[in-house]
Amino acid sequence: MKIDVKECQPQERYKILTGLIAPRPIAFVTSLSEEGRVNGAPFSYFSIVSIDPPLISLSIQRNQGQMKDTARNILREKAFVVQGVDGPLLEKANAASAPYGPEESEIDALNLKTVQSKKISVPGILGAPYNMECVLERHIEIQSMEHTTADLILGRVVYMDVEEGILSEDLKVRQENYDPIARLGGPNYATLKKSFALERPKSV
Ligand SMILES: Cc1cc2nc3c(=O)[nH]c(=O)nc-3n(C[C@H](O)[C@H](O)[C@H](O)COP(=O)(O)O)c2cc1C
Repeated sequence: MKIDVKECQPQERYKILTGLIAPRPIAFVTSLSEEGRVNGAPFSYFSIVSIDPPLISLSIQRNQGQMKDTARNILREKAFVVQGVDGPLLEKANAASAPYGPEESEIDALNLKTVQSKKISVPGILGAPYNMECVLERHIEIQSMEHTTADLILGRVVYMDVEEGILSEDLKVRQENYDPIARLGGPNYATLKKSFALERPKSV
C-alpha cells in the first residue's frame, strides 16, 4: 500500500505510525503537581537521545490544545522520574492512563507505593525495574498550523536506581532478568519472548 501522508486524517496517521514504529518501550513517568501530589502516566513516545549528555525524550501530546498534567508538572518542577515497565507494572501503568484530573493522584488511586528520589524532589515508584531521575533539559513545542499539538521534553538523567539482579558487575543488562514490555499498535503489547545477540561488524 502506498500512502501520501498529507491525504491522511490524524487518526489514520496515528494508526499507521504507532503500528509501524513498534515495538516501543514504555516510560511510566512520575511528576509532582503544584499541591505536591504524585502524578503517574505511561508514555511510549519515549526514547534515548544521547549518552553525552545522558538525555532521553518524551513526546506528550496535547488534548485539544491542553497540556497533559505530566507536561505541566515537568515544566513547573523541572524534574520527573521515568520508571521502566515490566509485566507486573503494566496493568497499573495502563490504568494510570485513564483521564484522572489534576486534583487526583493516580499513584494513590492505584495503591502504588512511592520511593524518595536521591537528587530531585519528585518521588519514583517502588518496585519498578528501574527509576531514572531526570531534570528538564529542554522543552520544544511541536506545532501544526500554528497550534501547539505536543510537548517534546528532553530530560537529563541524573541518577538511576536499577533493581538488583538486572545489571551484572560490569554493568551489562542480564537479559534473563529484565523483561520490558513493548507497546505495539492499538491495544497490543509484547514481551521479549526470545532475545538474541548480534555483534556489530568491526570493519567493512
Ligand atoms: C502504554 C501507553 C502509552 C502511552 N503513550 C503516550 C505518549 O507517548 N504520549 C502521550 O501523550 N500519551 C500517551 N499515552 C496516554 C497518556 O498516558 C494519558 O493521556 C494520560 O492520561 C496522561 O496523564 P497526565 O494527564 O496525568 O499526564 C499512553 C497511554 C498508554 C496506556
